[in-house]
Amino acid sequence: MSLSVVILAAGQGTRMKSTTPKVLHEISGKSMLFHAIDAAQTVSDDITIVLYHQAERIQKEIDAIYEGIHFHLQDAKQYPGTGGAMKGVKTQNERTLILNGDMPLITKDSLLALTTGNADINMSVIRLDDPSGYGRVIIENEQVLEIVEQKDCNTPQLMTKTVNAGIYAVNTELLERYIPELSNDNAQAEYYLTDIVKMAVDEGKTVNPVYVQEEEFKGVNSKLDLAAAEEILQRRIKTEWMKAGVTMRLPETIYIDCRAKFEGECVLENGVSIQGASVLIDSHIKTHSVVEDSYIENSDVGPMGRVRPKSVLKNTHIGNFVEVKKSTLTGVKAGHLAYIGDASIDEGSNIGAGVITCNYDGKNKYQTIIGKNVFVGSDTQLVAPVTIADDVMIAAGSTINKDVEKGALAISRAPMKTFKNFFYKFFGTEKK
Ligand code: UD1
Ligand code: MG
Repeated sequence: MSLSVVILAAGQGTRMKSTTPKVLHEISGKSMLFHAIDAAQTVSDDITIVLYHQAERIQKEIDAIYEGIHFHLQDAKQYPGTGGAMKGVKTQNERTLILNGDMPLITKDSLLALTTGNADINMSVIRLDDPSGYGRVIIENEQVLEIVEQKDCNTPQLMTKTVNAGIYAVNTELLERYIPELSNDNAQAEYYLTDIVKMAVDEGKTVNPVYVQEEEFKGVNSKLDLAAAEEILQRRIKTEWMKAGVTMRLPETIYIDCRAKFEGECVLENGVSIQGASVLIDSHIKTHSVVEDSYIENSDVGPMGRVRPKSVLKNTHIGNFVEVKKSTLTGVKAGHLAYIGDASIDEGSNIGAGVITCNYDGKNKYQTIIGKNVFVGSDTQLVAPVTIADDVMIAAGSTINKDVEKGALAISRAPMKTFKNFFYKFFGTEKK
């Protein structure tokens, strides 16, 4: 690939009002910066990220997931601004695409559109009814002449409704010459990357405006913007999965993580939340159920079921108010009100209402292993670690704290007693 990418992510993000760096805020399960990196990786393998505020924390999070990303620490004290951010950045290819780290909605198609053609610089522009806050783009005969930041605009310039969306594809050779020459002689005393446009025009270079969708290029600066971006991304994610055959009842009430995957015919009812890198195959998730980082095949969950991380459900029925955590259930029915944690349950077993795996002793977590065709009566507590062999029956209300052998009935109950006519004696009334 003859394209390098630089992602600007050194800004503080004060308007987020958060101790978490702006670009690490998540949208649909992935941080904004990771959305930008993923888009960048579709067009380039030379990616540099410019950092300053909380650089170490951001770099650590990136390094945990991505390989081969380059980092550049901006000297933001001496050289503040988007131009300052580019100072000292070295890229390997003829062309350099500069992105903002806070634009999580950008698509591969738009990035490609910005990198086609022979212009020396392609820059993203949007026409806005309300251009306030953005740099204004002065265009004549389809060529950009200049970008003027709002704070530096004169009155006619302020009226310009064509604004700089903040993404540029530039001949690397021009960047290498212009960046060291930027000055901070402007209203904000910052080094503006946008000044390279005028420098290029003065040298007779071509600067093409590439008109882009506002939706994709909206920067996220506040929690309000974050919520708006989430809504857009959710709409995209759900549209794609519905096209791929997932049925959604009232899709606007459903949440799907960008890492989730569906195969075959899945049905999601209203209010369902599919989180993490969950995989669902031919399964039905009913109203207001939550699935987190789990694998669910040929199964149904809910209404109001909760499948917590690292669970694997196959050919299984999970009913209302059942919570499953880090458990593997194959061919199991757990219809009502149960907690199944750190367990493995095999074919044909039935978990009654109110069953609880007591998996935690206050210090450590322990496993509950249940074999095939086990009938676990209602309100049973399985005190882990415990193993129940195949073909076992457990009587309702039992506390099971020892392994049970194949084919056995296990019952642990205080014997029931009845006291004849106690009611009448207690209340001093007559039996009729
Ligand atoms: C910038 C553009 C403006 C454009 C707008 C689009 C300049 C001078 N202006 O303005 O024309 O309309 O984006 O959203 O470029 N950053 C750094 N180091 C810094 C400052 C910023 O890395 O010292 C990064 C930020 O993290 C962010 C990006 O650069 O990802 C843009 O910075 P921001 O402060 O949002 O620029 P704007 O003032 O919005
Ligand atoms: Mg901005």
